[in-house]
Amino acid sequence: MTPRSIHIVLIILFLISLTICASLASHSITINDSLSGDQKLTSRGGNFVLGFFTIDNSSGRYYIGIWYNKVSELTPVWVANRVTPVSDPTKSLLHISHDGNLVLQDQLAKSSPIWSTNATISSSHSTIAVLQDNGNLVLSDGENSSNVFWQSFENPTHTWLPGAKIAFNKRTGVSQRLTSWKNSGNPAPGLFSYEMGQNGEFLIRWNMSKTYWTTGPWDGRSFSQIPQMTAHHMSDYTFVNSSEEIYFFYTIRDNATISSRVVMDVSGQMKMLMWAEEVRAWTQISLAPEAQCQVTALCGPFGSCNEQRLQRKCTCVMGFSERSPKDWDLSDFSGGCTRNTPLQCGGNTSSAYVEQDKFLPISSVRLPADAQQFQAGINVDECEQACLNNCSCTAYSYGNTTCSLWYGGLLNLQDEYDGADGAGTLYLRLCH
Ligand SMILES: *[C@@H]1O[C@H](CO)[C@@H](O)[C@H](O)[C@H]1NC(C)=O
Ligand SMILES: *[C@@H]1O[C@H](CO)[C@@H](O)[C@H](O)[C@H]1NC(C)=O
Ligand SMILES: *[C@@H]1O[C@H](CO)[C@@H](O)[C@H](O)[C@H]1NC(C)=O
Ligand SMILES: *[C@@H]1O[C@H](CO)[C@@H](O)[C@H](O)[C@H]1NC(C)=O
Ligand SMILES: *[C@@H]1O[C@H](CO)[C@@H](O)[C@H](O)[C@H]1NC(C)=O
Ligand SMILES: *[C@@H]1O[C@H](CO)[C@@H](O)[C@H](O)[C@H]1NC(C)=O
Ligand SMILES: *[C@@H]1O[C@H](CO)[C@@H](O)[C@H](O)[C@H]1NC(C)=O
Ligand SMILES: *[C@@H]1O[C@H](CO)[C@@H](O)[C@H](O)[C@H]1NC(C)=O
Ligand SMILES: *[C@@H]1O[C@H](CO)[C@@H](O)[C@H](O)[C@H]1NC(C)=O
Ligand SMILES: *[C@@H]1O[C@H](CO)[C@@H](O)[C@H](O)[C@H]1NC(C)=O
Repeated sequence: MTPRSIHIVLIILFLISLTICASLASHSITINDSLSGDQKLTSRGGNFVLGFFTIDNSSGRYYIGIWYNKVSELTPVWVANRVTPVSDPTKSLLHISHDGNLVLQDQLAKSSPIWSTNATISSSHSTIAVLQDNGNLVLSDGENSSNVFWQSFENPTHTWLPGAKIAFNKRTGVSQRLTSWKNSGNPAPGLFSYEMGQNGEFLIRWNMSKTYWTTGPWDGRSFSQIPQMTAHHMSDYTFVNSSEEIYFFYTIRDNATISSRVVMDVSGQMKMLMWAEEVRAWTQISLAPEAQCQVTALCGPFGSCNEQRLQRKCTCVMGFSERSPKDWDLSDFSGGCTRNTPLQCGGNTSSAYVEQDKFLPISSVRLPADAQQFQAGINVDECEQACLNNCSCTAYSYGNTTCSLWYGGLLNLQDEYDGADGAGTLYLRLCH
């Protein structure tokens, strides 16, 4: 080859690499493209990117997610494979499968996908996944984009972006739901969820069952429990009640502040946050419920919540230790606390001297949930004895001629509690 032809070859190679780069900076995936390693999709206006991310790069857990392109702190707003991370993005492939769905697959093992959009698709030959500039990933018919098969806004994870509807479907009775992360390092679904109830009010629930906060009903301008909605003029709200569904969404008025989000946080609280570029941090606009200790079972069994503590609201009650200090460090307290010394009760009773379990009084606590109560005819000594007599009784309380007994793990304890409801002295059963 002459130097001249080498030159031409180099120019051609350069042009080819340019086309490859251009296709990687794309905002969509068709049947002919895929995403792997550190390749990314960028939305047309450059607000959001989609690609593989990790929270802790020593964990070997990588997720397909969407995050802000212009926010310097990695902030995922949606995660595809929440419970099925991959260990090596270079060996994983996000692509359109033969049935037209967007799937995440192991590149080598041509087995079933790790994750799929799982939609019913009529025109599989031409589906296209587009990352829109509002953060919505939309899977639609490439030949007719009004034919939408799936979108991330309708399958949210823990973040509610401006413009995304949260709906209650009247026919199926199904509500769209945000679910907290398991802990601050793991996007798998945690215990707290946010969803629309059948009357159009929003609920925050623990373990899909116990509701511990609600917005109350919509009155046309705001939800009854958050009247301040009408006070700040940052957002606009849309509430729709049709024969098919009830839905609600918010938008941000200032087009410059795109980086606004509402999250179901690992703390069990809903947070509205806004990115403040001057300080390069997320600032909190609002919080619900405002009191951390109002979150159901936040501190797990035998954990106790205290609003006065600054850093961490949860501690273990006397005689107990954190079951999993690692999880507690990641703000997941749900495992609660475990007894340092086993109770005598139910143990070896054939020894000559049977030491009895004792009760430690803890005053000014919010008494745990789910007591068994006995009224009338029982005095305080009989109440204590009733607890001693049953090995699974872990605490009692006596007041107002009522004996309350608790069995198993104590949930919802709060110390230094001054609320009017349910405050009292708890007698906690411990090994002598
Ligand atoms: C994919 O590539 C084939 C062959 O090059 C082409 O015919 C088809 O139009 C492409 N499809 C899309 C959606 O780009
Ligand atoms: C993980 O992150 C650290 C700190 O940001 C960096 O120094 C290191 O190179 C990263 N390791 C890998 C494998 O990316
Ligand atoms: C897709 O469907 C399969 C089988 O019905 C299910 O196991 C899988 O979890 C679903 N994936 C998603 C992302 O919903
Ligand atoms: C595109 O799809 C929509 C919804 O399915 C349909 O109403 C419309 O007629 C289609 N348009 C064309 C040009 O096929
Ligand atoms: C929605 O509309 C139906 C029928 O008009 C009405 O009965 C219902 O109370 C409405 N719900 C809300 C939350 O406004
Ligand atoms: C959540 O509820 C399920 C049953 O619906 C139960 O098996 C599970 O133990 C509960 N989780 C906790 C932490 O209590
Ligand atoms: C904000 O963006 C919307 C949609 O792009 C546009 O209609 C509106 O005029 C913009 N508002 C302002 C204040 O720039
Ligand atoms: C119970 O205690 C007796 C006397 O201290 C001892 O001999 C026996 O091995 C113990 N049994 C168990 C099951 O620990
Ligand atoms: C102890 O109390 C629990 C809960 O009330 C009950 O299910 C169990 O049968 C009791 N055990 C004994 C030995 O009385
Ligand atoms: C004491 O019990 C009675 C009867 O259950 C109840 O009406 C009253 O409110 C209770 N008082 C307190 C202070 O809890």
